[in-house]
Amino acid sequence: MKTKKIAIVSDHAGYYLKVKLLKYLIKEQYDVKDLGCSSEEAVDYPDFGHPLANAISAGDFEVGISICGTGNGINMVVNKHPGIRSALCWNEEISRLARAHNDANICALPGRFISESEAYLIVKTFLNTSFDGGRHQRRIDKISLKIY
Ligand code: RB5
Repeated sequence: MKTKKIAIVSDHAGYYLKVKLLKYLIKEQYDVKDLGCSSEEAVDYPDFGHPLANAISAGDFEVGISICGTGNGINMVVNKHPGIRSALCWNEEISRLARAHNDANICALPGRFISESEAYLIVKTFLNTSFDGGRHQRRIDKISLKIY
């Protein structure tokens, strides 16, 4: 089992891709927990985004993966939480830079706009890229509204 603890959520529009990703991550020996939703029945993405962000802020998980139709709604929700840096990742390079430059802790995916194989590559890259630090840390330190 790999050491990183991962939580994954979706709404109904991301459910199909979430099930595929879960199988992939388990096969790759990741420690992954599904925090809902549990079918393609229509739900509201904030009901799954907020619990994901809370669990990561509490330190229960190191990385989050969130999926809705466009990725935008759930990305907006989690980014309301202090300490959450969620990036909408729609290709491998964006995913790599979200980690290397932004130290993103949630990977938001557009379930209706990427293929399964694209999703595997995006997530694998997100999980295996380290933060570059240096000038990027200085920029991240300026994201919080507290200093403005
Ligand atoms: C659901 O139809 C859709 O609006 C949602 O998954 C997401 O794309 C919102 O941003």
